[in-house]
Amino acid sequence: MSPQQNARPIDLRSDTVTLPSAEMRAAMAQARVGDDFYREDPTVAELEAMAAARLGKEQALFIPSGTMANLLAHLTHCPGGAEVIGAEPAHSFANETGGPSRIAGMTVRSIPQQGGELDISRIRTMIRPPGSGLLTQPTGLLWVEQPTRGRVTPLEQLAGLRLLADEFHVPIHMDGARIFNAAVALDVPASSIADYADTVMFCVSKGLAAPVGSLLVGRAQFIEKARLNRQMIGGGMRQAGVLAAAGVYALGHNVERLAEDHANARRLARALAEMPGISVLPVPVETNMFFAEIVRDDLSAQDFARALGAHDVLVNLPSAGRRSVRFVTHYGIEQADIDEAIRVASEILGRAPVIAGGVE
Ligand SMILES: Cc1ncc(COP(=O)(O)O)c(C=O)c1O
Repeated sequence: MSPQQNARPIDLRSDTVTLPSAEMRAAMAQARVGDDFYREDPTVAELEAMAAARLGKEQALFIPSGTMANLLAHLTHCPGGAEVIGAEPAHSFANETGGPSRIAGMTVRSIPQQGGELDISRIRTMIRPPGSGLLTQPTGLLWVEQPTRGRVTPLEQLAGLRLLADEFHVPIHMDGARIFNAAVALDVPASSIADYADTVMFCVSKGLAAPVGSLLVGRAQFIEKARLNRQMIGGGMRQAGVLAAAGVYALGHNVERLAEDHANARRLARALAEMPGISVLPVPVETNMFFAEIVRDDLSAQDFARALGAHDVLVNLPSAGRRSVRFVTHYGIEQADIDEAIRVASEILGRAPVIAGGVE
């Protein structure tokens, strides 16, 4: 089955660009629905039960986006604001338009992260228990993203973070937007990863290829509070079963196939790494996301991205001065698309001096 209606362009910007399959659309059209405010939507209830079971938690809440689910984690763990500690590239800290500070009153403190490795001893020195200072908010939350920028944090490290959290009585929230990619990479059930966190959010709208939706999972009492907070920030939904049906379909059909995305990412990364002036991170590629660093004077990362785009291979345009280009594989990208992307990239790199300076 060729899932995507449009073979061109080959869109490697993100796994959020997936289009719902005919089967997923049929499931959405046929979904039984009700008013979820009154908890009368059976399909939302089904998705929430499925999500809680897959992650080994008591309860789940269906939320329109990952950003909102992360914000709810801040708001619900730390109702009066607090300090949150996590690693630097965390989406919630860097890419959620300041929501944790602006809306939840959180002081964000981050440490640099090398790959998927967490510097537990550094985090330990940063934790501020209640009463430890007159000028600071105490630490109310530890934050971990799994995977983060395509890198998977090893379970032993998550175990180390858990020990620290227990020692200081601070909860852990896991941004597991792509937790199922991590689960496939580690070859463990997602619940074995979620075990280390008090709460987890994951998205069905990324590699799982649903059009909308994220789930926040945790203890029943926490999720009930999060439900109230969801109402407060306008995330309550009505006949959301139409959307939840896509999530049910995604969890039922699209988890194991993530291995194909990982294999495609590895295939592309291996080929790029052999081209002149390109180095790839991570090695080996662990999930469906990797970065190609352009290490040559005659071609910037922006030029490379533009040139790919001109040949119908889409990647996000890196900011000026950045040297790396992100590639993300997903549902709808077949091996033939990868081979075409490889062909295009090698053509561009062969002609790089001509391309430098703009291709459009
Ligand atoms: C790691 C991570 N967390 C959270 C989000 C936010 O999800 P959403 O786009 O559904 O708000 C993203 C989005 O790409 C993400 O990559």
